[in-house]
Amino acid sequence: MTPFPTIDALTQALEAAGYFADRRLATAVFLALKLERPLLLEGEPGVGKTELAKALSLALQREMLRLQCYDGLEQREALYEWNYAAQLLHMRAAQALHEPSSTPGTGGPDHVGDVVAKMEREVYQARYLIRRPLLQALQTPAPGAVLLIDEVDRADEPFEAFLLEYLGEYQVSIPEIGTVRAGVIPVTILTSNRTRELNDAVKRRCLYHWLDYPERERELAIVRAQVPQASSALSAQVAAVVGKLRSQPFANAFQRAPGIAESVEWAKALVALDTLAIDPEVMADTAGILFKQREDVAALTRDMATELLKPEEAPA
Ligand SMILES: Nc1ncnc2c1ncn2[C@@H]1O[C@H](COP(=O)(O)OP(=O)(O)OP(=O)(O)O)[C@@H](O)[C@H]1O
Ligand SMILES: [Mg+2]
Repeated sequence: MTPFPTIDALTQALEAAGYFADRRLATAVFLALKLERPLLLEGEPGVGKTELAKALSLALQREMLRLQCYDGLEQREALYEWNYAAQLLHMRAAQALHEPSSTPGTGGPDHVGDVVAKMEREVYQARYLIRRPLLQALQTPAPGAVLLIDEVDRADEPFEAFLLEYLGEYQVSIPEIGTVRAGVIPVTILTSNRTRELNDAVKRRCLYHWLDYPERERELAIVRAQVPQASSALSAQVAAVVGKLRSQPFANAFQRAPGIAESVEWAKALVALDTLAIDPEVMADTAGILFKQREDVAALTRDMATELLKPEEAPA
């Protein structure tokens, strides 16, 4: 199932696709591929949950199918729905063709039953099925799909219950057609921001990984790869400052720490402003890139910026 013989090979393939994974994440992905199990990624916003699925799709050269979850998401948007308009047209056309012989009342009750059964067979054909991401993922021909079920914590509990059969068996039941099983098992990634606790039964069907903020080296690698125009000194400063903002004592001052997405954006903004080295002033001016809440922007004072930008003491 996995084209990557080792965890290192997988790490390299992800890196070639622009994604930097640490050993623990790479191990989780490797096992998900090897054991053909869905992988549930939880973590703060902007730490690379969604991006992992995109990178995997590139690395595996599999099509990515994405189901964005939200409150009120229904099966017909996730799995399939019938194309009623086309079914109706089919019935009208059939009626017009068979009008004289099939008019109810001209035949006996059996005859009417036959006509209805025939009509049902005709309108519930696969060609009148509109496939949504979950069904598409089961039917994607080799090498198969990468299925991203994004922000599953936003969907409601009935939807989670519905996912159980899918995640456990990679199959779904369609009453009019029967059971549809996966031709090639889709590589399945679920993400959650943990706005609520997920159902235990869903968790049991998945491998689990908590995606943390990256350590400084990895963040630096990401910023360098995504903002090559930034000098290495500037990128290093970005990674150092953002790392400090996420840890004590600074983290206490903010409601939400900046994610990797914010580091990358910040580096881009600094380049756009022709910044050579970050100073407290430019930091306060660009706080709206690091923080998306008014209180957090206000909390990043010049005094704090001065403190954050102090050179670190060299290890003894
Ligand atoms: N490990 C990584 N390697 C490379 N880029 C990364 C990595 N992690 C995050 N990024 C960058 O950060 C951005 C945000 O990541 P992503 O959208 O995957 O976050 P998320 O965890 O899904 O956040 P949210 O919970 O808000 O949806 C990506 O577009 C990518 O540029
Ligand atoms: Mg996301």
